[in-house]
Amino acid sequence: MLVGSGICMISKSSTFINQYGPWALIAGASEGLGEAFAEELAKKGLNLVLIARREKLLQKISKNIQKKYRVEVIVLPLDLNSSDMLEVIESRTKDLDVGLFVYNAALSPIGLFTNHSLETHLKVINLNCIGSMTLTYHFCSKMKEKSRGGIILMSSMAGLQGSPIHAHYGATRAYTRHLAESLWLEMKDFNVHVTACVAGATATPNYLSSEPIDKDLIKPKPMKPERVVDFALKGLVKNKPRVIPGFANKISVRFLHSFLSSKERIKLMGSVAQKMYGENKNHINK
Ligand SMILES: NC(=O)c1ccc[n+]([C@@H]2O[C@H](COP(=O)([O-])OP(=O)(O)OC[C@H]3O[C@@H](n4cnc5c(N)ncnc54)[C@H](OP(=O)(O)O)[C@@H]3O)[C@@H](O)[C@H]2O)c1
Repeated sequence: MLVGSGICMISKSSTFINQYGPWALIAGASEGLGEAFAEELAKKGLNLVLIARREKLLQKISKNIQKKYRVEVIVLPLDLNSSDMLEVIESRTKDLDVGLFVYNAALSPIGLFTNHSLETHLKVINLNCIGSMTLTYHFCSKMKEKSRGGIILMSSMAGLQGSPIHAHYGATRAYTRHLAESLWLEMKDFNVHVTACVAGATATPNYLSSEPIDKDLIKPKPMKPERVVDFALKGLVKNKPRVIPGFANKISVRFLHSFLSSKERIKLMGSVAQKMYGENKNHINK
């Protein structure tokens, strides 16, 4: 029995490694969802390239993972908003067979659109859209040549309709979802799986630092990052174009899109965000 279940585990993970291994690269891996992706992918036997700006956090995650799992970890401290980010990543990974790419990093300004400077909004586009598109283009082309691989682009329920108070953030999440869903079909015949992870509120350090006031609101509770990652990876393995992690999130999206007009949806999203943050909020993750 024990031997049987052991063999089963090995064959399951070797299927995963054959499709998505031996290396995974996570852009935005130093905490929250990125850290949870790192842990789960190491558990599945993939070697990791971890990218974020805070090297100390990356080193800590790397140490912890290498203690628990027999995988290699490369820490690559890098600002994904820097103009040479593709060159740096290309040169550090040119000898690695990267079979899985996750773009998790994002800037998420909260508050009225005009509460933030134009400079901030341009940084948001650069990190959330140009960064994810540039690296997706790079890894998609390589995976297409090898006829295997997987890509997960993080998106958000804020990108499913206009989302006042999260206006620009929501717009960038619509961008990544749209890109992933289109590539899902384009890449299907090349055996490259592409999934948009359309997450709802998730208890990451970034989300918690925005100090949402949500105790009297009827809305799904923030999920744990590990649960979101579990949904995302299961969706990728099933080659789904999009995954909405969590039953409550799925139901609320179905409700919003089946029973409300687009005007009503935008107004509802706006009033929930207004109650959570108020329009004077001027918050952005560091
Ligand atoms: N949290 C939520 O409630 C929620 C809900 C829906 C969707 N999402 C999506 O999930 C993803 C993660 O969201 P999160 O806000 O919760 O953040 P997080 O998982 O807590 O962390 C974001 C990661 O990106 C890295 N990062 C940020 N800017 C970077 C830059 N310029 N260069 C390199 N790395 C950078 C951060 O590390 P450093 O600071 O060390 O660079 C951090 O590791 C985002 O794509 C977001 O849209 C989140």
